[in-house]
Amino acid sequence: MALGSEGRDGFTSRFGIVCAAAGSAIGLGNIWRFPYVVGESGGGAFLLIYLAFVLMLGIPVMLSEFVIGRKAKRNAYGAFRKIAPGTWWPLVGVIGIVAAFVILAFYSTIAGWTLHYVYLSVANSFKGLGALEVTSVFEAFQTSGGLPLMWQMIFILLTAVIVLSGVKKGIEKYSKILMPFLVLLLISLSVRAITLPGSMGGLHFLFNPDFSKINAAVILGALGQAFFSLSIGMGALITYASYFPDRTNLSATSFQVSIADVLIAILAGVAIFPAMFALGMQPEEGGPGLIFMVLPNVFQAMPGGYLVAVAFFVLLAIAALTSSISIMEVVVAFLSEELNIKRKSATLITVIASAFVGMFCTLSWSTFEGVGIGDRNIFDLLDFTASNVLLPLGGLLIVVFVGWYMKQQAVRDELTNMGVLKLVVFMIGWYTKDERTEEDRARFRAIRIRIYAVFMFIVRFIAPIAIAIIFLNAIGLIRI
Ligand code: TRP
Repeated sequence: MALGSEGRDGFTSRFGIVCAAAGSAIGLGNIWRFPYVVGESGGGAFLLIYLAFVLMLGIPVMLSEFVIGRKAKRNAYGAFRKIAPGTWWPLVGVIGIVAAFVILAFYSTIAGWTLHYVYLSVANSFKGLGALEVTSVFEAFQTSGGLPLMWQMIFILLTAVIVLSGVKKGIEKYSKILMPFLVLLLISLSVRAITLPGSMGGLHFLFNPDFSKINAAVILGALGQAFFSLSIGMGALITYASYFPDRTNLSATSFQVSIADVLIAILAGVAIFPAMFALGMQPEEGGPGLIFMVLPNVFQAMPGGYLVAVAFFVLLAIAALTSSISIMEVVVAFLSEELNIKRKSATLITVIASAFVGMFCTLSWSTFEGVGIGDRNIFDLLDFTASNVLLPLGGLLIVVFVGWYMKQQAVRDELTNMGVLKLVVFMIGWYTKDERTEEDRARFRAIRIRIYAVFMFIVRFIAPIAIAIIFLNAIGLIRI
């Protein structure tokens, strides 16, 4: 990593930037959370609403985080303090830090399960098991308490080691090579799943929208899933963008990352639902254990299934790591930059706090079984609070900040890279006596400004109003 102007670490290559942001976005959210939330929320109609939210709200929120982060070159809290000193805006950063804690707590539960499944698949534990037995292997593990707890702690420590030792660069380098493999594996899983007898109902479920299944809670769920999967609403991408160099094209990056993220989620859906239907499982039955109960059956039905299973869970664990480091980094950057705690101590504090809260999540199916509200246990409650409450709230405040508070020239400069561009244009003009026609320049300007106008309209009006309505509708304050 090159040192930035203020002595902070920075990303160097353009591809590295997209990869780091994509590494944060692509993770358990796509492969673990997306299928089970789609299953619980009725399939195709949910998928359509989720896609609309990614395009209309997700990309603008992501772009807003990029604008704030690169402008301020600070952590999620410090960025607001720098751009809006003496206001209450830094509270948005505080919401983000709380959200990061909560997400790290339950994310590490699932990442721990993934590690255990690396072990199980290396040990060839699913060999010869039928679908029911695969499910009971999972349930026995999930409810056993100690074992999932151990894997969770291992995962939190792994995350901390990476955050601390700055081997992020190494992680980026490897995930550039490894993530395409994960995509290839998902494609081959999908092909196998679709060719299983009885699988077509799964595709029908995923792609044929049945709008009778949509209600206010499902709509909020789609928003939460979009935000969670894109890593937006809590400042993770503010923190990452603070390391972006001036020449990064922010809008192109937000599009590329979001599209990759969505494609991988859909691919995971195409691998899971046909397999579920072929196995005779109901889509709403899976819950958080869905992929762990379904995929081992698909691996078994594949040539080379042993290796595919091992590779899949290893790559999933790595995808989870590249996401969890972006979550932990939010907290560590805040503690070290704002409270002047050394990075080492900051990481230690974060590990202890998230391990403590995380323990309750992992033990939701054993020690704390039955503790919760309604049919949600502790794990579900923390996931719900973070994904469906804190992230949308954070996203709402972030777009209002960019749309209404920030100086519009500053936003425009970030989006068009004008600060740098002006200098380049000036230099070219200087050396070449500027031979481009007025028309060339006008076209160039016009494209930039059109993107800007659409973006501003969304962040000022559409996104805040839409998020507010979805929210109020879901908690029952208004009825649409
Ligand atoms: N998006 C990641 C995933 O899909 C999880 C994640 C990483 C995240 N950073 C985040 C979620 C910040 C919300 C906010 O697995």
